[in-house]
Amino acid sequence: MASLSKAAQVRIAPSILAADFAKLGEEVRAVAAAGADFIHIDIMDGHFVPNLTIGPSVVKALRPHCDLPFDVHLMISPVDYMLEPFAEAGADVISLHPEAGPHLHRSLQTIRSLGKKAGVALNPATPVAVVDEVMDMVDLILVMSVNPGFGGQIFIESQLDKISALRARINAHTAAGGQPIDLEVDGGIDRETAPRAIAAGADVLVAGTATFRGGPDAYADNIAAIRGNG
Ligand code: DX5
Ligand code: ZN
Repeated sequence: MASLSKAAQVRIAPSILAADFAKLGEEVRAVAAAGADFIHIDIMDGHFVPNLTIGPSVVKALRPHCDLPFDVHLMISPVDYMLEPFAEAGADVISLHPEAGPHLHRSLQTIRSLGKKAGVALNPATPVAVVDEVMDMVDLILVMSVNPGFGGQIFIESQLDKISALRARINAHTAAGGQPIDLEVDGGIDRETAPRAIAAGADVLVAGTATFRGGPDAYADNIAAIRGNG
């Protein structure tokens, strides 16, 4: 039963990168109805990563379609000038990459000062130790299990050790009275890789391709399968 209750705690964040961009409002409503816990929104600038997606105006347009928290993953550099626009557009959690700007601490302070939850996203080659000096000011640590920029990539196995290492750090932090920190894994998550990420310590799973494949009629089954209930 322990594994069942653990699985039940896992939250699923569909990445709308894999949704039909011609009907984003409908897609967000459909995954919310299908059991999603967050909406993961990938922001890419064609500079920090080799792909372009959407800006704050699209996030703002989506906001009335859904009550779920918007988990906004910024893959843009520079990043600081975009924190307030995304906060105003309706982001609930804003994550950034330490490589995206010169002052990670200041950027996290800015997100918190805007009344939003702050996240740090670690690329596959970014060391775990980057979070050590900011543990007290993050609400989320996002482990990239692919290189950022595209959906539909293969899960990078070496990130399982990183997830475990971060789980140990987060548990030690909260045991010492620190604030709760979610541990999110993003990239190549499907019904095969999800249980391994969960076993390593993840408590939020981003899933784009694995959520949106098969169209709206499949979303509830897809999400249940990723959660381990399929
Ligand atoms: C990649 C993005 C991911 C991506 C995941 O840069 O951060 O959120 O959408 O896509 P899948 O789930 O298809 O690997
Ligand atoms: Zn993402």
